[in-house]
Amino acid sequence: MFEDSLFDQMPRIETDRLVLRKLEMRDAPDMFEYSRDPLVAKHVLWDAQTSVSESRGYIRYMLRKYRSGEPSSWGIEEKASGKIIGTIGYMWYQRENNSCEVGYSLARAHWGRGYMTEALKAVIAYSFKTLRIHRVEAQHETDNLASGRVMEKCGMTKEGTLRGRLYNKGKYVDVHVYSILREEYKK
Ligand SMILES: CC(C)(COP(=O)(O)OP(=O)(O)OC[C@H]1O[C@@H](n2cnc3c(N)ncnc32)[C@H](O)[C@@H]1OP(=O)(O)O)[C@@H](O)C(=O)NCCC(=O)NCCS
Repeated sequence: MFEDSLFDQMPRIETDRLVLRKLEMRDAPDMFEYSRDPLVAKHVLWDAQTSVSESRGYIRYMLRKYRSGEPSSWGIEEKASGKIIGTIGYMWYQRENNSCEVGYSLARAHWGRGYMTEALKAVIAYSFKTLRIHRVEAQHETDNLASGRVMEKCGMTKEGTLRGRLYNKGKYVDVHVYSILREEYKK
């Protein structure tokens, strides 16, 4: 079992247009529909999926995390269609510093409608109000401007650039790091 009980719950979180909820095996076809898209996978650390069974494998991996209480991700369900159109969740949590990193991805058909801003705001609120985390961090490859904009719109502060921080899809890439602290959020 994971040493912290913070992530045991991963409760259903509702926003205006979305429901964040645990992934289920039946979500595999929805997930494959967008995760096969190389443009969606371009700036994340996974490769575009090539079969529904890969999506099932990813969901199985997430189900194990739910069971063990490790940091994990919610599926993003669009209320209007009832479909899973992305994921958002915790990449890691450090107990000694009470800090975490959040990451996300969304189906290309739904970009530019404010969905990820809506989802990230809800996860930030949950992290501070319910989990009482002190620092929520996020990072994006420097040429993924839309992701930086989402972080800004959620009140995160750009702290700097880490050069060659990630090796992604055959090359080293620079990332911008953003964060928001609990005391800032309360204001
Ligand atoms: C990045 C991503 C999550 C954004 O989700 P989204 O729901 O489209 O984001 P929002 O609509 O909430 O906000 C996007 C903002 O970026 C802006 N934007 C989009 N493309 C842009 C670009 N090329 N340059 C600058 N800004 C851009 C939009 O105009 C919008 O800002 P605005 O509201 O001020 O107009 C989505 O594109 C995605 O999933 N991409 C693939 C996976 C990924 O990159 N994940 C993040 C890894 S760090």
